[in-house]
Amino acid sequence: MKKIIIAIDGYSSTGKSTVAKQLAKTLGYVYVDTGAMYRAVTLYAMRNNLITDNFFDKTKLVESLVNIQLKFQFNPEKGFAEIYLNGENVENEIRTLNVSNFVSQVATVPEVRKKQVEQQHLLGQEKGIVMDGRDIGTVVFPEAELKLFMTASAETRAQRRFDELKQKGEEVTYEDVFENVKSRDHIDSTRKDSPLIKAKDAVVIDNSALSLEEQFEKILSLAKNII
Ligand code: C5P
Repeated sequence: MKKIIIAIDGYSSTGKSTVAKQLAKTLGYVYVDTGAMYRAVTLYAMRNNLITDNFFDKTKLVESLVNIQLKFQFNPEKGFAEIYLNGENVENEIRTLNVSNFVSQVATVPEVRKKQVEQQHLLGQEKGIVMDGRDIGTVVFPEAELKLFMTASAETRAQRRFDELKQKGEEVTYEDVFENVKSRDHIDSTRKDSPLIKAKDAVVIDNSALSLEEQFEKILSLAKNII
């Protein structure tokens, strides 16, 4: 069986990571969540007061990039790799609504993107990888053998993310989550550097009305046709 690169892009909370993790597990591939990398950089910026509700010191953040080391480490109990920021496991902390509220602004900065993309190239150089994000099929691996573009209605996505955060015990309202999903989609799709767009050769998966199993079967069969 040949090893390929599977690029999964799409809007916020379309369930990309759930399907990507399952796919990687079934194929024996490595899964890389590139959103976690932008989230970890954002967490660093928040902790160092480089970004607040009405302030964003992009210059300082760019200067600080040399001090930000990100690493993925496989957690056998969870079955996927967790992200470490300068040696600290930040997998849970980066998922809060607070980080979600700033991450898209941080992800507009070209120097931030350049550094993450370099690391993503290294992670994918041996193929056998499922990578999800916003620019994987267009910028990071335009040569990926299988590209998927996932979408669903904003309401469906906000409801999913709201349920997830509630389950984790976070105090959030549906309205706040809905606003965050819409605002991130807007910033992600309209930024100058590597905007979220569908690669010409990507297969669109609208999962508003698909169960997880249906979605997974569809994607697995697309992969198996190539492998
Ligand atoms: O995938 P997730 O929702 O965790 O991504 C968080 C944010 O990181 C996105 O809304 C986007 O701003 C940014 N991102 C990006 N490029 C990627 C992955 C994520 O700009 N490849």
